[in-house]
Amino acid sequence: MKVLGIETSCDETAASVVEDGDCILSNVVASQVDIHSRYGGIVPEVASRQHLLSIVPIVRQAMDQAGVTHRDLSAVAVTVGPGLIGSLLVGANFAKGLAASWGLRLIGVNHLEAHIYANWLEREVSPEFPALCLIVSGGHTDLVLMAGHGHYRLLGRTRDDAAGEAFDKAARILGLGYPGGPAIQQAASEGNPAVVLPRAWLKGTNDFSFSGLKTALFHLIRKTKHDSGFATQDVAAAFQEAVVDVLVSKTVEAAIRNGVSRILLAGGVASNQLLRSRMLKASPVPVVIPEPALCTDNAAMVASCGHYRFCYAAGPNLDVSASLSLT
Ligand code: KG4
Ligand code: ZN
Repeated sequence: MKVLGIETSCDETAASVVEDGDCILSNVVASQVDIHSRYGGIVPEVASRQHLLSIVPIVRQAMDQAGVTHRDLSAVAVTVGPGLIGSLLVGANFAKGLAASWGLRLIGVNHLEAHIYANWLEREVSPEFPALCLIVSGGHTDLVLMAGHGHYRLLGRTRDDAAGEAFDKAARILGLGYPGGPAIQQAASEGNPAVVLPRAWLKGTNDFSFSGLKTALFHLIRKTKHDSGFATQDVAAAFQEAVVDVLVSKTVEAAIRNGVSRILLAGGVASNQLLRSRMLKASPVPVVIPEPALCTDNAAMVASCGHYRFCYAAGPNLDVSASLSLT
């Protein structure tokens, strides 16, 4: 069964054809990063206008690369939230039009659930349940217990900034540009953690907090401007170390406490090399992580999630929602 996936929740216009939930036949992503980087972050109105310009050629390219016509497809899956409402509406309405004119089933997909399903792509063996999912993206940092397809329980979440948001804000403080995650990772690879930045452990909970770390970084940079104490690369390494330390420790603790069979990483921050290597080292159970290009926003994960929703879910959700939750 082949599913066309469409993703426009933020600043990537993406389309993909996936067979049987795991085999990627095509995966096309048009990034708007060059347009938004001059503003230091995403401008929602600009993002939705760019989606309008890109959606037709990107879907066409995904179909051509997969070598399929609409007669080969069983369904169209599209992200319906959470995300930027204008951006979501472009993808959702385009998918509705396609499904109606091609006579295909339409499946509304939760963007966070789609990030989790990136772990089903290009795998010979599917991840085992129960699994603990750490979703770390630009807008979310959630620890979710996944008992089976479609069965989620939220164990904890960030109380302030998301991990990706913290990377983006820290990069801005350090003058490293946007998006911040890859920029901090690159700078950190050329330095060593020069200082120990604070960690918010929030003991006894599965919650996270990164805003204090960001403020500590801000004050450190103000001070070093006067003292010219540390190199930017060393401060970036200290920041990355602090974020990864908390993410890994709290995830491993929760995995042990809940007796899970697998840890699954998901979302853009899961492409961070230090997070990947530390999690693999610290976890008592096998860790599943998508390829870096499948961690950041793409439509293959939407098509995979759509496949499993098609197989196990009751009614599809077709209304867009900027704040759609997973649980
Ligand atoms: O999942 P994603 O592509 O979009 C959202 O759903 O938000 O995640 C984007 C976030 C950004 O905050 C970006 O800075 C972060 O993921 N990110 C990284 C890395 N690559 C992307 N953070 C840390 N290290 C990376 N290598
Ligand atoms: Zn995302």
